[in-house]
Amino acid sequence: MTDPRLRPATERDYDRVTSLLGAAGLPLAGVPRDLAGFEVAERAGRLVGAVALERYGEDGLLRSAVVDPAERGGGIGAALIERILDVAREHRLRAVYLLTTTAEQWFPRFGFGRVERADVPGAVQASLEFREACPASAVVMMRQMSKVG
Ligand SMILES: CC(C)(COP(=O)(O)OP(=O)(O)OC[C@H]1O[C@@H](n2cnc3c(N)ncnc32)[C@H](O)[C@@H]1OP(=O)(O)O)[C@@H](O)C(=O)NCCC(=O)NCCS
Repeated sequence: MTDPRLRPATERDYDRVTSLLGAAGLPLAGVPRDLAGFEVAERAGRLVGAVALERYGEDGLLRSAVVDPAERGGGIGAALIERILDVAREHRLRAVYLLTTTAEQWFPRFGFGRVERADVPGAVQASLEFREACPASAVVMMRQMSKVG
Protein backbone atom coordinates (compact mmCIF):
# COMPACT_ATOMS: atom_id res chain seq x y z
CA MET A 1 0.00 0.00 0.00
CA THR A 2 1.27 3.46 -0.82
CA ASP A 3 1.59 5.89 2.06
CA PRO A 4 -1.25 8.34 2.44
CA ARG A 5 -0.67 11.95 1.53
CA LEU A 6 -1.55 14.40 4.28
CA ARG A 7 -2.68 17.93 3.49
CA PRO A 8 -4.82 20.72 4.97
CA ALA A 9 -8.50 20.27 4.11
CA THR A 10 -10.37 22.62 1.82
CA GLU A 11 -14.05 23.45 1.48
CA ARG A 12 -14.29 20.89 -1.33
CA ASP A 13 -13.62 18.11 1.20
CA TYR A 14 -16.65 19.01 3.33
CA ASP A 15 -19.10 16.39 2.07
CA ARG A 16 -16.62 13.52 2.28
CA VAL A 17 -15.29 14.53 5.71
CA THR A 18 -18.73 14.95 7.22
CA SER A 19 -19.84 11.65 5.74
CA LEU A 20 -16.84 9.86 7.34
CA LEU A 21 -17.59 11.56 10.67
CA GLY A 22 -21.29 10.74 10.47
CA ALA A 23 -20.63 7.10 9.62
CA ALA A 24 -18.29 6.85 12.64
CA GLY A 25 -20.88 8.45 14.93
CA LEU A 26 -18.69 11.50 15.65
CA PRO A 27 -20.25 14.94 16.21
CA LEU A 28 -20.76 17.28 13.26
CA ALA A 29 -21.61 20.29 15.42
CA GLY A 30 -19.03 23.01 15.00
CA VAL A 31 -17.39 21.53 11.89
CA PRO A 32 -16.79 24.67 9.81
CA ARG A 33 -17.91 24.75 6.19
CA ASP A 34 -14.38 25.65 5.07
CA LEU A 35 -12.89 22.91 7.28
CA ALA A 36 -10.44 25.39 8.81
CA GLY A 37 -8.13 23.52 11.19
CA PHE A 38 -8.72 20.15 9.48
CA GLU A 39 -6.01 17.94 8.02
CA VAL A 40 -6.96 15.09 5.71
CA ALA A 41 -5.32 11.92 4.42
CA GLU A 42 -5.62 10.92 0.77
CA ARG A 43 -4.69 7.67 -0.87
CA ALA A 44 -4.78 7.38 -4.65
CA GLY A 45 -6.80 10.58 -4.80
CA ARG A 46 -9.40 9.31 -2.33
CA LEU A 47 -9.96 11.03 0.98
CA VAL A 48 -9.56 8.31 3.62
CA GLY A 49 -9.18 10.15 6.92
CA ALA A 50 -9.38 13.43 8.79
CA VAL A 51 -8.57 15.15 12.06
CA ALA A 52 -8.94 18.71 13.35
CA LEU A 53 -7.31 21.07 15.79
CA GLU A 54 -9.30 23.94 17.27
CA ARG A 55 -7.24 26.62 19.00
CA TYR A 56 -8.28 28.38 22.20
CA GLY A 57 -5.55 30.80 23.19
CA GLU A 58 -2.49 28.76 24.15
CA ASP A 59 -4.40 25.48 24.19
CA GLY A 60 -5.79 23.22 21.51
CA LEU A 61 -8.68 20.80 21.14
CA LEU A 62 -8.15 17.77 18.94
CA ARG A 63 -11.39 16.53 17.43
CA SER A 64 -12.90 14.61 14.53
CA ALA A 65 -10.20 11.93 14.25
CA VAL A 66 -11.56 9.45 11.74
CA VAL A 67 -10.34 6.92 9.18
CA ASP A 68 -12.41 5.17 6.53
CA PRO A 69 -13.35 1.77 8.03
CA ALA A 70 -11.85 0.00 5.00
CA GLU A 71 -8.49 1.70 5.63
CA ARG A 72 -8.16 1.25 9.39
CA GLY A 73 -5.18 -0.48 10.98
CA GLY A 74 -2.68 0.75 8.39
CA GLY A 75 -1.23 3.69 10.28
CA ILE A 76 -3.32 6.45 8.72
CA GLY A 77 -4.85 7.41 12.06
CA ALA A 78 -1.40 7.63 13.66
CA ALA A 79 -0.08 9.74 10.78
CA LEU A 80 -2.99 12.14 11.17
CA ILE A 81 -2.47 12.50 14.93
CA GLU A 82 1.28 13.10 14.48
CA ARG A 83 0.48 15.70 11.82
CA ILE A 84 -1.96 17.55 14.07
CA LEU A 85 0.57 17.50 16.92
CA ASP A 86 3.06 19.10 14.52
CA VAL A 87 0.47 21.80 13.82
CA ALA A 88 0.08 22.30 17.59
CA ARG A 89 3.86 22.68 17.89
CA GLU A 90 3.94 25.16 15.00
CA HIS A 91 1.44 27.25 16.95
CA ARG A 92 3.48 26.87 20.16
CA LEU A 93 0.48 25.47 21.99
CA ARG A 94 0.85 24.66 25.67
CA ALA A 95 -1.38 21.60 25.67
CA VAL A 96 -3.83 19.72 23.46
CA TYR A 97 -7.08 18.32 24.88
CA LEU A 98 -9.59 15.87 23.47
CA LEU A 99 -12.84 14.16 24.32
CA THR A 100 -13.47 10.56 23.42
CA THR A 101 -16.01 7.85 24.04
CA THR A 102 -14.31 5.28 21.81
CA ALA A 103 -10.54 5.67 21.76
CA GLU A 104 -9.34 6.13 25.34
CA GLN A 105 -7.02 3.15 24.83
CA TRP A 106 -5.62 4.52 21.56
CA PHE A 107 -4.51 8.05 22.45
CA PRO A 108 -1.93 7.19 25.17
CA ARG A 109 0.47 6.07 22.42
CA PHE A 110 0.59 9.71 21.31
CA GLY A 111 1.31 11.00 24.81
CA PHE A 112 -2.28 11.72 25.89
CA GLY A 113 -3.34 10.94 29.43
CA ARG A 114 -6.67 11.18 31.19
CA VAL A 115 -7.51 14.40 33.04
CA GLU A 116 -10.52 15.71 34.94
CA ARG A 117 -12.90 18.10 33.24
CA ALA A 118 -12.27 20.59 36.03
CA ASP A 119 -8.59 20.73 35.01
CA VAL A 120 -9.40 21.83 31.46
CA PRO A 121 -8.89 25.56 30.71
CA GLY A 122 -12.12 27.56 30.61
CA ALA A 123 -11.77 28.52 26.95
CA VAL A 124 -11.53 24.87 25.91
CA GLN A 125 -14.45 23.93 28.17
CA ALA A 126 -16.49 26.67 26.50
CA SER A 127 -16.04 25.04 23.05
CA LEU A 128 -19.08 23.62 21.30
CA GLU A 129 -17.52 20.16 21.44
CA PHE A 130 -17.28 20.33 25.25
CA ARG A 131 -20.58 22.05 25.85
CA GLU A 132 -22.86 20.22 23.43
CA ALA A 133 -21.37 17.80 20.99
CA CYS A 134 -19.87 15.16 23.27
CA PRO A 135 -21.78 13.37 26.02
CA ALA A 136 -20.93 14.06 29.65
CA SER A 137 -19.67 10.49 29.88
CA ALA A 138 -16.87 11.19 27.38
CA VAL A 139 -13.34 10.83 28.72
CA VAL A 140 -11.14 13.95 28.67
CA MET A 141 -7.49 13.52 27.72
CA MET A 142 -4.57 15.93 27.53
CA ARG A 143 -1.14 16.02 25.97
CA GLN A 144 1.38 18.54 27.20
CA MET A 145 3.30 20.19 24.34
CA SER A 146 6.88 21.37 24.47
CA LYS A 147 7.02 25.02 25.44
CA VAL A 148 9.91 25.75 23.09
CA GLY A 149 8.34 23.90 20.17
C1 LIG B 1 -9.44 5.65 15.93
C2 LIG B 1 -9.11 5.61 14.43
C3 LIG B 1 -9.03 7.05 13.90
C4 LIG B 1 -7.73 4.91 14.25
O1 LIG B 1 -7.36 4.96 12.88
P1 LIG B 1 -6.42 3.82 12.24
O2 LIG B 1 -5.96 4.31 10.92
O3 LIG B 1 -7.09 2.50 12.31
O4 LIG B 1 -5.21 3.83 13.30
P2 LIG B 1 -3.76 3.21 13.12
O5 LIG B 1 -3.75 2.29 11.94
O6 LIG B 1 -2.77 4.31 13.15
O7 LIG B 1 -3.60 2.41 14.47
C5 LIG B 1 -4.06 1.09 14.55
C6 LIG B 1 -3.79 0.60 15.96
O8 LIG B 1 -4.62 1.35 16.86
C7 LIG B 1 -5.51 0.46 17.53
N1 LIG B 1 -6.79 1.15 17.64
C8 LIG B 1 -7.52 1.67 16.64
N2 LIG B 1 -8.65 2.22 17.12
C9 LIG B 1 -8.62 2.02 18.46
C10 LIG B 1 -9.53 2.35 19.52
N3 LIG B 1 -10.68 2.98 19.28
N4 LIG B 1 -9.18 2.02 20.78
C11 LIG B 1 -8.03 1.35 21.03
N5 LIG B 1 -7.14 1.02 20.06
C12 LIG B 1 -7.45 1.34 18.80
C13 LIG B 1 -5.57 -0.76 16.64
O9 LIG B 1 -5.93 -1.89 17.40
C14 LIG B 1 -4.14 -0.85 16.15
O10 LIG B 1 -3.33 -1.35 17.19
P3 LIG B 1 -1.86 -1.97 16.92
O11 LIG B 1 -0.98 -0.86 16.42
O12 LIG B 1 -1.45 -2.44 18.28
O13 LIG B 1 -2.08 -3.04 15.91
C15 LIG B 1 -10.14 4.79 13.62
O14 LIG B 1 -10.26 3.52 14.21
C16 LIG B 1 -11.52 5.43 13.58
O15 LIG B 1 -11.81 6.21 12.67
N6 LIG B 1 -12.39 5.09 14.55
C17 LIG B 1 -13.76 5.63 14.60
C18 LIG B 1 -13.73 7.09 15.04
C19 LIG B 1 -13.11 7.28 16.39
O16 LIG B 1 -13.32 6.53 17.33
N7 LIG B 1 -12.29 8.36 16.48
C20 LIG B 1 -11.65 8.79 17.71
C21 LIG B 1 -12.62 9.63 18.48
S1 LIG B 1 -11.92 11.09 19.12
